[in-house]
Amino acid sequence: MADNSSTVAEALTKRGVSRRDFLKYCAMLGAVLALPSTEIEALARALAIAPRIPVIWLEFQDCTGDTESFLRAGAQPNPLVSGPSEPSISQLILETLSVDYHETLMAPSGFMAEKSRRDALESQAGQYLCVVEGSIPTGAGGAYCTIGGRSALDIVREVTSNARATIALGTCAWDGGLAGALPNPTGATGVAGAVPGLRNLVNLPGCPANVVNLVATIVYIIAYNRLPELGDFGRPKFAYEKEIHERCERKRYYEAAQFVRAWGDEGHRKGWCLRRMGCRGPDTDHNCPTVRWIQGTNWPVGAGHGCVGCAEARFWDRMTPFYAADDDD
Ligand code: SF4
Ligand code: F3S
Repeated sequence: MADNSSTVAEALTKRGVSRRDFLKYCAMLGAVLALPSTEIEALARALAIAPRIPVIWLEFQDCTGDTESFLRAGAQPNPLVSGPSEPSISQLILETLSVDYHETLMAPSGFMAEKSRRDALESQAGQYLCVVEGSIPTGAGGAYCTIGGRSALDIVREVTSNARATIALGTCAWDGGLAGALPNPTGATGVAGAVPGLRNLVNLPGCPANVVNLVATIVYIIAYNRLPELGDFGRPKFAYEKEIHERCERKRYYEAAQFVRAWGDEGHRKGWCLRRMGCRGPDTDHNCPTVRWIQGTNWPVGAGHGCVGCAEARFWDRMTPFYAADDDD
C-alpha cells in the first residue's frame, strides 16, 4: 500500500506539507503529549528523519468504530492550536504509516489478503507496529472468530510476537469491551488477556478510541523509539491520567449544584451539569475535554450528553444503566 523507503519528512514533502505546517503539527502533538515546549524542536527533528513505520492492523470482534475514527481524523481545526490553515492530522497519519495489512481498508481479499499479512510478518519482523481492534474470543478454543481458517487468538499471538510495539486500540481490544460484557458468551478478552506477558503493549481504550491519541502514540514511538509513559492499566499517561470532570466546561454548574434533571429542561438548554442524568465524568480518566472529537469540534458532554465512561475498565458492566444518577450524589 505504501512506499517503505521514504522517511516521514519525504512523505510529507510529497504531500506538499511545508516545514512551517510540519512544525505546527509537532506543536499540536506536543501539546497532546504534554511535552514541554522546549521539546517540540527535538520532536520535529526526530520525526522528520524517522523511517515510515509498517503497520499490521488486526480486526476481530468489533464494530469497526476505531477504523472509522482513524479514517475520520480529517482536517483541522484542533482546539489545542489556533490558526487558519492547519494541516490535517489524518494526512500525517496516512503519509507516515505504511499500512501493509488492514482487512477493512486493503484492496486484496481472501488468500491474497492473508498472503499480504504473511509477507509483512516475514519481511518486517521486529519493525512493524501491530494495531489490534476488537476483542479476542477465547471460548470454544477461539472458534467464535476465525479468519482464513485460523482463530483470532492464534493470529494475535503470532502477529504480536514479532511486533516492535502493539497498540490495543479501543475498549474491546483493551479488556473485551462490549463482547466481553456479562455474561460474555464468547469468552472475549483484550490483547493483554490473550497474550499474557506481552511486552511493548500500549492500551488506548475508548469506544471508539480517539484518533488524536493514536497519532500521538505512534509519533512518540517513531520519534523516540520507545513507548510513551504508561500509567494505570497500561494506558499512556498523557491521555488517561486526568479525570474528565476536572476539565469539564460544566464543572462550575456541578459546584453550584445546578443540574440537568430532564432531557430538554431549562438546565439542559443552559448547559448545566449532567451528573444527575448519569454522567460518569467524575469516574473516568480521559483527555476528551481538551482533545475533543470530530477534528476538535465537540465532545459528548459539550454536545449535551453525559460521559458514559467508555475509557474505563468493564464500562459496559460497571457504568450501566447509562442514564441513572449515581446513588452517592
Ligand atoms: Fe462533571 Fe459530567 Fe458534570 Fe461535566 S457534566 S461537571 S464531567 S459530572
Ligand atoms: Fe468516552 Fe466519556 Fe470521552 S463516554 S468519549 S470517555 S466523554
